[in-house]
Amino acid sequence: MTAIDYNEKIPNNVDLASDRTLQRALEQWQPNFVDWWREMGPEGSHGFDVYLRTATSVDPEGWAHFDYVKMPDYRWGIFLAPESPRRKIHFGDHLGEDAWQEVPGEHRANLRRIIVTQGDTEPASVEQQRHLGLTAPSMYDLRNLFQINVEEGRHLWAMVYLLHRHFGRDGREEAEALLHRRSGDVDNPRILGAFNERTPDWLAFFMFTHFTDRDGKFQLKALAESSFDPLARTTRFMLTEEAHHMFVGEAGVSRVLQRTCEVMNELRTDDPARLRAAGVIDLPTVQRYLNFHYSVTLDLFGADESSNAATFYATGIKGRFDEAKHDDDHRLRGDSYEILDVKDGRLAPRRVPMLNALNEVLRDDFVRDSVGGIERWNKRIEKTGVAFRLALPHKAFHRRIGTLANVSVSPEGEVLTRAQWTANADRWLPTEGDRAFVASLMGRVVEPGRFAGWIAPPAIGIDRHPIDFEYVRFG
Ligand SMILES: [Fe+2]
Ligand SMILES: [Fe+2]
Repeated sequence: MTAIDYNEKIPNNVDLASDRTLQRALEQWQPNFVDWWREMGPEGSHGFDVYLRTATSVDPEGWAHFDYVKMPDYRWGIFLAPESPRRKIHFGDHLGEDAWQEVPGEHRANLRRIIVTQGDTEPASVEQQRHLGLTAPSMYDLRNLFQINVEEGRHLWAMVYLLHRHFGRDGREEAEALLHRRSGDVDNPRILGAFNERTPDWLAFFMFTHFTDRDGKFQLKALAESSFDPLARTTRFMLTEEAHHMFVGEAGVSRVLQRTCEVMNELRTDDPARLRAAGVIDLPTVQRYLNFHYSVTLDLFGADESSNAATFYATGIKGRFDEAKHDDDHRLRGDSYEILDVKDGRLAPRRVPMLNALNEVLRDDFVRDSVGGIERWNKRIEKTGVAFRLALPHKAFHRRIGTLANVSVSPEGEVLTRAQWTANADRWLPTEGDRAFVASLMGRVVEPGRFAGWIAPPAIGIDRHPIDFEYVRFG
């Protein structure tokens, strides 16, 4: 695989120089992207030298090159995983045919919509996280935040490349619009709900990267199966970066739990008020944050019954998570799947055609993956001797999209009246008071090797450097 030439204006491994029109279009978009970064990227960070990972090629050795970089000068580039010649379509009605190197006219609108929706999440999360640098709990964490931010920026580049290269004029217009929508904006919001929520503090950030970036993983895994080969190849490379984002989330929450449990043991108490007075986040508050971010993320998978999902699969646009590992005919006509319905005020399973349930199939894969994360957090708690377990709320809890949006369900899966639900919501979701308390802990700690009192240090540093390495030079 050829290494990327960083002397080029737009680093790439797609031989951009051979397509002058495309190159020029992207070079026109580039300054608008940088303007967006300066306006909506990490606040107050533009002069910092940050110890960042930059891909130099897409093979395993090449994409983990570390150096100090000023973020506005980060070399956002276009990297596709290598082409596999003669790749075949391996699911849907076109199974066995050659994969598409160009967009088939009849799938153009759907492919564009999928790429735009994915692309929109990338700058959205940068916008959601843009104030967090001001309250970083350590220099190490600050660096990780910035790493995620530049990579989300690169994921935007990846989708914009596809739009410019394959969708002509409307692709270019969509690429512009990706820089104009704003997370949480009333008039011009980002496309998906969870990407318009605020990420006001670092506990929210860790939950977001644990759960919402994990949604990203599942969406990208499904798109990595696409019959549209350039989409499959670009998402495969994005997944290598996504793994680090989820690591930051999982390890971040884990370190919060560690610190809280240490203080619980020191003070021999589980009284939230005493723990808060001691400057750590009580475990029930962590659970409420978890409930919020998990349920909001579940909605990202879309309606449980969806004719779009059926179309995307049947036409070969979007596969399932680990498509090849499914032991079936990969066409799914005539198969069925159980979704959760509401009947006489109760949750009741109902069988629907598998093709229409593919959002739910992907959501259930995500749920399984999330269970693993909770178990690792609980192990961490267990090791400190504290008797407390985190739990994933029921799939029907606090849902806004699909059948379950019409029902009020407790985290344990009990169907409630709206009034019962509202009376208990403060026990289940972060309250104003919770958020205000967590916000009160957020203060900037950025001397190398120092950590805020509410979070334990990580076990190891980045790129084999010590924890007190100077990950960010403020200049
Ligand atoms: Fe991303
Ligand atoms: Fe991500």
